[in-house]
Amino acid sequence: MSNKSSPWIVALILFLAAIGVGGTVVLVVLALQVQKPGEQVEQAPLGPLETRGRALFQARGCNACHTVDGSAGIGPSMAGFWGRQRQLADGGQVTGDEAYFIESVRDPQAKVAAGFRPAMPEFGNSITDNDLAAIMAYVRTLPAQQSADKAH
Ligand code: HEC
Repeated sequence: MSNKSSPWIVALILFLAAIGVGGTVVLVVLALQVQKPGEQVEQAPLGPLETRGRALFQARGCNACHTVDGSAGIGPSMAGFWGRQRQLADGGQVTGDEAYFIESVRDPQAKVAAGFRPAMPEFGNSITDNDLAAIMAYVRTLPAQQSADKAH
């Protein structure tokens, strides 16, 4: 590197000197306003409970079998689980709600999702109510995906 300042830095300093303090403040404010909407376009940040739920979803290995983007896995994707009718292997239906979610984790064989092998490990009470609540809060934030949710 040369020990002379780069020409563009000199130009910048001259430019800032020319527009003065007021102009600089206006420029900074404009730059901040350009950035803000961009940040908000990204998905809403998860709250503390949902963030803990996401960490647990990975730490407890749920993500090994369940995707969160609607794509197929060993088990049904968690995207769009909430509030939707789930088809069961015995031909019945159940609503994707808290009761069914909890039962699915503690006693997965009680109701088996149609099109899937009953391959989910029984977690029983090895997951605390608190941890389950966090996982459910996270699953609720997943955007619904209509497409690859069901097995074929
Ligand atoms: C070894 C793979 C595996 C792991 C690990 C696993 N699951 Fe599953 N899960 C499945 C399979 C396969 C099914 C579908 C068959 C059934 O209903 O038992 C299923 C079904 C479910 C269902 C019902 C979904 C529906 O659409 O009906 C929920 C909810 C669920 N799992 C949540 C979890 C959570 C939460 C964890 C982590 C604590 C977890 N699973 C870990 C394989 C797995």
